[in-house]
Amino acid sequence: MKAYIKTYGCQMNERDSEALAGMLSARGWEITQNENDADLLIFNTCSVREQAERKALGKIMHMKKLKRGREHIIIGVIGCMAQNHGEKLFQELPHIDFVLGTGQLHELPDLVESLREDRKQQALLSNSEAVLTGMGVHLFDGMNSIFGQVAITRGCNRFCSYCIVPYVRGREMSRSEKDVLNEIGELAKHGIREVMLLGQNVAAFGLNGVITPPPDNVSPFGELLAKAAQIPGIERIRFTSPYPTYFTDRLIQVIADNPKICRSIHLPLQSGSNRILKAMNRHYTAEKYLEIVNKLKKAVPGIVFSTDIIVGFPGETEEDFCATRDVMNEVGFDNAFIFKYSPRPGTVSAKTADNVPQEEKERRNQILLADLAERSLAHNRALIGTVQQVLAEGPSSRNPARWCGKTSTAKSVMFAPWEGIKIGDLVEVKIARASSMSLFADNIPDLPEC
Ligand code: SAH
Ligand code: SF4
Ligand code: F3S
Repeated sequence: MKAYIKTYGCQMNERDSEALAGMLSARGWEITQNENDADLLIFNTCSVREQAERKALGKIMHMKKLKRGREHIIIGVIGCMAQNHGEKLFQELPHIDFVLGTGQLHELPDLVESLREDRKQQALLSNSEAVLTGMGVHLFDGMNSIFGQVAITRGCNRFCSYCIVPYVRGREMSRSEKDVLNEIGELAKHGIREVMLLGQNVAAFGLNGVITPPPDNVSPFGELLAKAAQIPGIERIRFTSPYPTYFTDRLIQVIADNPKICRSIHLPLQSGSNRILKAMNRHYTAEKYLEIVNKLKKAVPGIVFSTDIIVGFPGETEEDFCATRDVMNEVGFDNAFIFKYSPRPGTVSAKTADNVPQEEKERRNQILLADLAERSLAHNRALIGTVQQVLAEGPSSRNPARWCGKTSTAKSVMFAPWEGIKIGDLVEVKIARASSMSLFADNIPDLPEC
């Protein structure tokens, strides 16, 4: 019997899908990438923007055809949109067999087995802490990756006014430090070299869901990072997404002291206007954000930043937008995910009119993207002539004669492989050329002029 899992949304959803694949595989299911020969189809969905829901709904609607003549097929909708719409999904998508919310994912294998015996639509939507430990499973079978993900917190208590995540993922919970370190150790034994620690509010790890950041000399998340950096075999540690105010002096110190913690920090800004930040219920000002960035820049030479920005939040004026643009220029982000505001029913900001016209959101989006491309090109060009350490990922999908890898600062580097090089090696290459997206090493034959 074959199972197909399609994932929408963030890395936490990707990780959940991997854990579910691991659980199903332990029950004898074969995981397939081909929806047409699957006996079980699972759609792990996202609700963060309207577009994310529309995309998944369209796809699942389309799956109806697979059941023609193959009635034994089971189709399920899981994750954030399942939690958000619950049993109502059975009206819109009458051909689906189950809806499984974010607190019940660990129940998937049992639910599927019961459905195979007794076909009736089922919705499991209650919250459960068991999901936290139940989701530590990995799909080691046939795995040949050097990258691993570990979810260390679940849910979010911050209630940023635009965001649906706290409603669909539930209350914030942290796993135990011991469990997380064991899991990373297990991944290392299976050949993982780079681990990504995940949580919607990842730097609040170990704080029991309290939203006030700890004193400056405290950071349970920092202590976890320091211990993870000691695990044999783990060469790199990344994390996403941290809320800015948890960057206490202690956390900054740990990052500075441990070069295995990558020199690229994703630090969601959302807006550079204090008025908008307040309306977003983000508990910092642009000045505070810049103070954290500057402390990190000072303590960790060469560190780079990426961010999330929302353009067109209700009431965002040209002046507010310019403030965002200014902060982005001052930080000098290497990368940014820029989103057009999408009202999410049930959130606080959805009660205020979505009054920035779509074309204006688009204009602001394009301006920030153009700034970003210009900046990335300048940053990448500045690396020409330097030697960079790269984690070798293997042949590039575009040109298998070249290998690709990433620097600690998350920049993609193309280089020519040499005799004896292995995937997962940390290698040094000299940069000869740069585009806004990639760096090219000087050992590539016929490297075009810059
Ligand atoms: N926990 C992460 C973000 C999770 S959602 C954090 O706090 O950084 C990922 C991103 O989606 C957010 O950072 C935000 O920029 C964007 N986003 C969330 N809700 C949105 C909405 N209603 N409209 C547009 N973008 C949104
Ligand atoms: Fe959403 Fe804010 Fe929580 Fe991030 S911190 S998931 S933006 S509520
Ligand atoms: Fe989307 Fe849920 Fe992640 S709403 S962004 S999949 S936590």
